[in-house]
Amino acid sequence: MRRFAIANQTLFFGCELVSLSGVPCPEGLTAVQWSENDLLQHQGEEHYLDESHATWLGDGRAICFAVMDEEKLAGFAWIALGDVPGEMNHDGHPDTQLPLFLPDDTGFVFHVFILPAYRGQRLYAALMSYAAEQLPDHGVGKLLLTTECTNRSALRSVNRMGFREVGRAWLIKVGPICSVGYPEQPFFGGVRTGAYVGDLHERIND
Ligand SMILES: CC(C)(COP(=O)(O)OP(=O)(O)OC[C@H]1O[C@@H](n2cnc3c(N)ncnc32)[C@H](O)[C@@H]1OP(=O)(O)O)[C@@H](O)C(=O)NCCC(=O)NCCS
Repeated sequence: MRRFAIANQTLFFGCELVSLSGVPCPEGLTAVQWSENDLLQHQGEEHYLDESHATWLGDGRAICFAVMDEEKLAGFAWIALGDVPGEMNHDGHPDTQLPLFLPDDTGFVFHVFILPAYRGQRLYAALMSYAAEQLPDHGVGKLLLTTECTNRSALRSVNRMGFREVGRAWLIKVGPICSVGYPEQPFFGGVRTGAYVGDLHERIND
């Protein structure tokens, strides 16, 4: 069923790789970069690990890093390169999909998920530290991410890692009334946003 009201307030956070605080994996856990094959072995275990997402790895649009507890998945994070489609940046509702256009030196962190049993152990930070070691090989020197302003755990985690707020966007829709806001553009050294899918619906239906 279509939601009558949508209130999405997104905060953009950015960080230079050199400014990220280095956090090792807790003992017994290992950070790895996943191949398509690795992802296919774990597909269906969690959201954003389905077969269609393996194509992101295959065509080089994104990189997936995982923390493993031996053979078991403890968490993962995706990093997109180049232009980011709305399907990689949303809160679960199609109207909140917001495409991004990144400069070549910027990676976009998305679909981060630490399994509940492993939360609070700084695995998000350990994943970003590991990514920071690999990303210069892809020409990436800076990371951008979005988080909802109500996601307290994510906010605590990204602030502690050294990310700083670099912009805000919002989509508020109640029935036919729609209000949107975007960061001043360009921001964080050349990032631009497209329009929310929900904003485009409004314009097309006007
Ligand atoms: C947000 C998330 C990635 C953080 O990962 P993490 O590795 O647990 O991060 P941290 O160890 O830095 O903990 C961050 C905060 O989570 C909270 N937290 C701690 N233990 C927790 C637990 N067992 N369950 C839930 N939250 C917990 C705490 O507030 C903690 O901050 P604090 O230690 O300063 O009090 C993880 O909670 C998660 O996967 N959430 C669901 C998906 C999501 O929100 N993704 C991020 C989108 S930007």
